[in-house]
Amino acid sequence: MNVVLIGFMGTGKSSIGKLLSAKLGYKFIDSDQQIEYDLKMSISDIFAKHGETYFRQAEHRIIKKISQYNKAVISTGGGVVLNKDNMVELRKKGMVISLSASIDTILERTNRRNNRPLLEQEDRKAAMTELLAKRAEFYADADLVVDTGKYNPQEVVHIILNFLKEKGAVYAKSKG
Ligand code: S3P
Repeated sequence: MNVVLIGFMGTGKSSIGKLLSAKLGYKFIDSDQQIEYDLKMSISDIFAKHGETYFRQAEHRIIKKISQYNKAVISTGGGVVLNKDNMVELRKKGMVISLSASIDTILERTNRRNNRPLLEQEDRKAAMTELLAKRAEFYADADLVVDTGKYNPQEVVHIILNFLKEKGAVYAKSKG
């Protein structure tokens, strides 16, 4: 069994994923990091040199591979939901947890670093609003949705762990 985190950029997939994997004693896998490792290039360079379509193909290859792991918390890139086949692969062994946050929270969190090519727009808020509107239905299609703007990271992890235990998906050590 794996735990798959989906959600828009800046919803906390990587930071929550790391905390959750430590609690569960699972491996932590970040699909973007795997793509960078595979292509020996940063996400920004992949977009700049080869374009989004090429990135999405690489993303699909990596998703197919990491979906086969066991006992992994898999943090995905925000656009993973755009390809239905990615979700089919990830669901084979994975419970899908969707992280959400308000546009203002996402704006604030993603302002800190400039490593997201899709947000390098003059009007970031407008670009984000448009992308989010297009993707909302995919992010809603999950076993559980948690708003990371409403809780601190420990609380988010707690909510996810409780859900997984309720579903009988994990027998987590419940300390801490
Ligand atoms: C993308 C999100 C990014 C990264 C790429 C495209 C998207 O990942 O995969 O820049 O389409 O939303 P994060 O969600 O980890 O920022």
